[in-house]
Amino acid sequence: MRHLWIALPFVVACVPMEPPEALPPDPLALVALRDLDPDPKVVEVSIEAAIGTQEYLPGKPAEVWGYRDASLDGSPVRVPGPTLEANQGDTIVVHFRNALPVPTTVHWHGLRLPAGADGSTSTQDPIQPGGTYEARFVAGDAGTFWYHPHVHADEQIERGLQAAFIVHEPEPVEAAADRVLILDDVKLEATGRLSTTTDALDVMLGRQGNVLLVNGLNHPRLSTRPGARERWRFIDSANGRYFRLHMPGRSFQVIAWDGGLLEAPYQTDELLIAPGERYEVLVEPGAELETLHYDRGHEVPDPGPKALFSVDVAGDPVAPLPAYAGGGGTAARALVSPSTPVRRAVLREQDDEAGLRFLINDQAWPFNTPVMVETGTTEIWEVENNSDMDHPFHIHGLFFEILDVGGRPPIAIGAKDTLNIPQHQTARLAVRYGALGMWMFHCHILEHAERGMMGVLMVMP
Ligand code: C2O
Ligand code: CU
Repeated sequence: MRHLWIALPFVVACVPMEPPEALPPDPLALVALRDLDPDPKVVEVSIEAAIGTQEYLPGKPAEVWGYRDASLDGSPVRVPGPTLEANQGDTIVVHFRNALPVPTTVHWHGLRLPAGADGSTSTQDPIQPGGTYEARFVAGDAGTFWYHPHVHADEQIERGLQAAFIVHEPEPVEAAADRVLILDDVKLEATGRLSTTTDALDVMLGRQGNVLLVNGLNHPRLSTRPGARERWRFIDSANGRYFRLHMPGRSFQVIAWDGGLLEAPYQTDELLIAPGERYEVLVEPGAELETLHYDRGHEVPDPGPKALFSVDVAGDPVAPLPAYAGGGGTAARALVSPSTPVRRAVLREQDDEAGLRFLINDQAWPFNTPVMVETGTTEIWEVENNSDMDHPFHIHGLFFEILDVGGRPPIAIGAKDTLNIPQHQTARLAVRYGALGMWMFHCHILEHAERGMMGVLMVMP
């Protein structure tokens, strides 16, 4: 057409308009793992953890540890790794191989599954270098989850072992695009390599990097059309960084968090996401997404706002979609009564000759007394943060519901597995015990978990 245009401008000008140009390929799109099983109700994937390279800074490759799709010859290690995508109710079969020089595990953060498949060290021995592992479970809950190691997680996740796990609802919420946005940061040297020094501040706050990443990219651009309502699934995979999201001139309709769709959505201009948490929003994108300063205690040196990515809004406008009214629902709160037993967990920091340690009920992992409970029962967990900084509290293998935080009821009703507990506040959670076995609970600031702020929950028949 170009030659024609040059040669015959008058003719071409009269030709009917061509359809609008396809949008440029999306740099933020994540690669999905290949499903090896033709059965539509089974997702069978093959994942390898291996050493790779990633250019966080252009032209300056960094050695990373990451996941790759082992079913495809030559598929590279990626940070974040390839997404595991399934429909609610699918059986998931994972063949895993550890090609790293160190032992690792794969934990499916947020999924309710049999304890043996949870991938934490309370239920399995780490997979040795060259070793393999198989996991099989049903993805019973729709939502945004993620997978990552549960051995030296502070080091292994930071080096790049992290990926999304998306379970679609049978009737997906209508949106012009469905994007997974993994928020992270890395501490880079001038060479572009990952810093290997952990200083006192890294331990105290959870390592905060000097480069912000969205899906492994520093300040990318995404493209959309005017009026397009998009579904954005945020995952905070950082060791310690909180993201307080803001899009000037726009607001987010929050439709889901950790455990899936909320009973009713809510509207907000700012969305705080702590490490380990997920939030899903409907948004008509504006020009830029930024993260604002958040006071998480101990005078964290991260003034905001900082840009995360820019949006090019161009092309033909998109017809508006009907308003979304909600439809998720959870049940644990309904099971709480004045006679529900209360269990207390006090989060505390201690700095003494032994160094900086992080404690739950004055115990430091791995030297904990397991919390023994009975399946099918419900308890209220009163989690008191008795320290000068926030801690995102995570429980494996179940969802809980927020009763209140600092005495205030939650902004919405929905299932959580990770909740930020602000400095010197207490959260009350309705916890319903499900699958049998040993589960972990911990602060999702990874340096804190690995330095003691982790406990063990034994769910018995
Ligand atoms: Cu993502 Cu035990 O955690
Ligand atoms: Cu913590």
